[in-house]
Amino acid sequence: MEAAELWVGFVGAGRMAGGLVRGLLQAGKVPASNVLASAPSDKNLDAWRELGCRTTHCNLEVVHRSTLVFLATKPHVLPGVLEEIRPAVGSHHIVVSLVAGVTIQTLQRLLPPSTKVLRIMPNLPCVVQAGAMVFSRGTNAGDVEAALLQNLLSSCGLCEEVPEPYIDIHTGLSGSGVAYVYLFAEALAEGAVKMGMPGALASRIAAQTLLGAAKMLLETGEHPAKLRGDVCTPGGTTIYALHQLEKGALRATVMDAVEAATNRACDMAKD
Ligand SMILES: NC(=O)c1ccc[n+]([C@@H]2O[C@H](COP(=O)([O-])OP(=O)(O)OC[C@H]3O[C@@H](n4cnc5c(N)ncnc54)[C@H](OP(=O)(O)O)[C@@H]3O)[C@@H](O)[C@H]2O)c1
Repeated sequence: MEAAELWVGFVGAGRMAGGLVRGLLQAGKVPASNVLASAPSDKNLDAWRELGCRTTHCNLEVVHRSTLVFLATKPHVLPGVLEEIRPAVGSHHIVVSLVAGVTIQTLQRLLPPSTKVLRIMPNLPCVVQAGAMVFSRGTNAGDVEAALLQNLLSSCGLCEEVPEPYIDIHTGLSGSGVAYVYLFAEALAEGAVKMGMPGALASRIAAQTLLGAAKMLLETGEHPAKLRGDVCTPGGTTIYALHQLEKGALRATVMDAVEAATNRACDMAKD
């Protein structure tokens, strides 16, 4: 489908929806005039209008005017929204939910039986087009719908199709993982402040260190252990520091964190 022919709707226009639409527009995947977003208030919609998108307070209008409909409300609001839009959803629609903890089975149960449903899990860096996303397709969504979604959202970062159980693992690894990385960045910078460096400079250098390390991981395709080994001169500074991190059980603690967040995501999907 050509970008100019695609009508994209967003039910819910908050931070994550806003991040995705910025990626789509910047990459020219869809013209702003083909995007319609709904939300109860104008709090977020003003920014959408500044981007050239159309806005409404009516969720049904979004469904009536769009082929591809993103569901981007908070989880507790979604059941009411699905009940509201259900009469307007047809077999020509592609419905993509980015709502955490709501399974494809639940979406399919609350929408008409023929609906093409996909579920995507983004992470916060999608708002700067450096996200990590995974998606899964429902019973009626085929290769065409999956390819369309992947093509569009690759403008917001890495976007891979996975079996649905991996979505909760992605939450533990990447959705919540962003926060672990911020904690590590904060700790790196505070270590430098303790040793006498000004805080703002230390924060900038910590962030660039994470960015550079991540870029090398992606571009070399090397295992992290190999790159870590490359930094360790025998008897040098890094191996002394790594010894301290091992004494603090950094690796086991991070693995526990991923496990805890994944289990919590699974529990939330059952609530
Ligand atoms: N933020 C993340 O890192 C992240 C990561 C992965 C998945 N997600 C998922 O993304 C979804 C949205 O998160 P967010 O951070 O973007 O939340 P958010 O900024 O609070 O946005 C929620 C949006 O939903 C709108 N809304 C509320 N009630 C509505 C209704 N009845 N009908 C239509 N729209 C309604 C809000 O309207 P107003 O503009 O009027 O307030 C707002 O625009 C969540 O389900 C979350 O699980 C978020």
